Amino acid sequence: MKIDGIPTRTLRPRPADGAIEIIDQARLPHELRWARVATLAEAAHAIRAMQVRGAPLIGATAAYGLAIALGADPSDVGLQEAVATLGATRPTAVNLHWALARMHQRLAPLPPAERAAAAWLEADAIAEEDVAQNRAIGQHGLGLFKGLAPRDGKTLNVMTHCNAGWLATVDWGTALSPVYAAFDAGLPIHVWVSETRPRNQGLLTAWELMHHGVPHTVVADNAAGILMREGRVDAVIVGADRIAANGDVANKVGTYLKALAGADNRIPFYVAAPRSTLDFACPEGGAIPIEERDGDEFRLVHGLDGRGTPTALRQLPAGEAVGNPAFDVTPARLVTAIITERGACPASRDGLAALYPEAAHG
Ligand code: MRU
Repeated sequence: MKIDGIPTRTLRPRPADGAIEIIDQARLPHELRWARVATLAEAAHAIRAMQVRGAPLIGATAAYGLAIALGADPSDVGLQEAVATLGATRPTAVNLHWALARMHQRLAPLPPAERAAAAWLEADAIAEEDVAQNRAIGQHGLGLFKGLAPRDGKTLNVMTHCNAGWLATVDWGTALSPVYAAFDAGLPIHVWVSETRPRNQGLLTAWELMHHGVPHTVVADNAAGILMREGRVDAVIVGADRIAANGDVANKVGTYLKALAGADNRIPFYVAAPRSTLDFACPEGGAIPIEERDGDEFRLVHGLDGRGTPTALRQLPAGEAVGNPAFDVTPARLVTAIITERGACPASRDGLAALYPEAAHG
């Protein structure tokens, strides 16, 4: 997607330097700064500290992180340790483990001297597939949006949660890809952007939409219910960090509440995700590990001070007990459809198996 008219992806591979450059998302939306990742430790830190975030981007970064690590130590032990280090960074987004498993399968049989070069190529393939799949999700979602658009040419109002836009992927995004496709196709569209406490990924969504010119309004998470009840939301679309084989969806905490409010108001609730987010080995949502993050994400509030300098304000004392589950699980029965690069399907074992027979029965 574009920043100020310049086509931009979330990461830039620099294989000749044994490094990648990433947009440091911990600084957005207040500051756009690129960070260099040149060691295994830096790659693991970037994922854990959420300099990169969003399930597909976490997977792609881990793949490049492995390529970086193998440049330093391509031995069997080096490969094992790098996979273990990167795999331990964040538990919920299955794309991380999917990417590492794919990389390991490709690299382990090779002689160590050939591993680093092959790893860069495989990481490139993962990144390019992510872009192509997300673009396809956009086209499938556009078809659904066209069916929902008010007949009188009035604006289609879509609500999203967290950031499942291009910042959360290599490019295009998942939930926002149909939004960009609709906007680019001239469909009148407006997005309700849910703030997404405590880390406020909704502000990243607003930043993206602003740069693309898509009309949007940021609302507090707690405003979702009244907006739906007043008929001001035509559809909800979110991304996913892991979709179980039965169609249960793990996504950013707060997603479940939106699905509940959507169901009570008969508003379609879509989940957009590529193949790398589907976990056919996970039978149902209860088996998905939910990341519990540091309580300081909740105790501190980040923003700009009066001089425009990034700063953190304490809203709770350091010793205050807080709970900070980063994700929740939305049961399949609340999901209208899952939109993947292969099309839309019911959120069910049969629906997913019909789209991915080779994975469901393999
Ligand atoms: O904790 P985050 O910011 O990595 O969580 C991101 C989400 O929950 C996204 O909705 C999900 O990863 C899908 S991104 C295309």
